[in-house]
Amino acid sequence: MQETSLTRQDEKALKALIDWWAEAGLELDAPIVRARPGLAPAPATPAKPRAIAEPPRAATAAAARAAGFGSTPKAGPGALEAAAKADTLDALKAVISEFEGCALKRTARNTVFARGHAEARIMVVGEAPGRDEDEQGKPFVGRTGQLLDRMFAAIGLGEDDLYISNIVNWRPPGNRNPTQEEIAICLPLIERHIALKAPEILVVAGGVSAQSLLRSQTGITRLRGQWADYKLRDASGKETGQTVPCLPIFHPSFLLRQPASKRQAWADMQALESRLKDS
Ligand code: URA
Repeated sequence: MQETSLTRQDEKALKALIDWWAEAGLELDAPIVRARPGLAPAPATPAKPRAIAEPPRAATAAAARAAGFGSTPKAGPGALEAAAKADTLDALKAVISEFEGCALKRTARNTVFARGHAEARIMVVGEAPGRDEDEQGKPFVGRTGQLLDRMFAAIGLGEDDLYISNIVNWRPPGNRNPTQEEIAICLPLIERHIALKAPEILVVAGGVSAQSLLRSQTGITRLRGQWADYKLRDASGKETGQTVPCLPIFHPSFLLRQPASKRQAWADMQALESRLKDS
């Protein structure tokens, strides 16, 4: 077999891919590419999945409805007006850092705005910062974020290919879910954020994000993997008539708790990869 020489970056991407495949329950049949010592062997093409586990039972539509997600949110006090003042991402960052309308800010250490590349084709929206994100002031930098990064690395996308934010910009105390009220308050901020970023594709991670942004009461188990149209809004909060293709995926923190669902998450990443190739 001809030996393939890999750069450090290739090795990193390859390792992320192998890790993700392994986590997604794929068993790799034969080593195709020989890597430097210390790296696991890599296949040229994904092997067929063998160990398939049960689909998830959590995150049902009933649970989502009980939590009130997807119900028509009441406008947050002042968030819409504050967000409307921003015409650039930098201006929005400043507006959100100064925004006092969400009580979560009082217990948080930092405002968590975004990470990644402002020109990236893909914008990912999660739920709310956790402890690590609160400490560093950046979204998805803890264990959950590492899994998110690996999921995208597995289809060849790195930090520069993504722009990442959350529905809520402050950590809910004790990492609880943000309440409906907190989501409603922050929704105009993330909707302005999406409008200013104007991504080519929006990926919404988890039920809170998918249901809030798509105004849906359907559970993430049914929403995931189904392309939807995210409706862009103008500075007054009205729909502009323009849409962005939106892919709901399982939240990586759910995948950490329910590794069997990584098989479906992998299918969703492949759907994203094909969409990117086609557009
Ligand atoms: N979970 C999220 O939804 N967002 C983060 O930034 C971190 C964990």
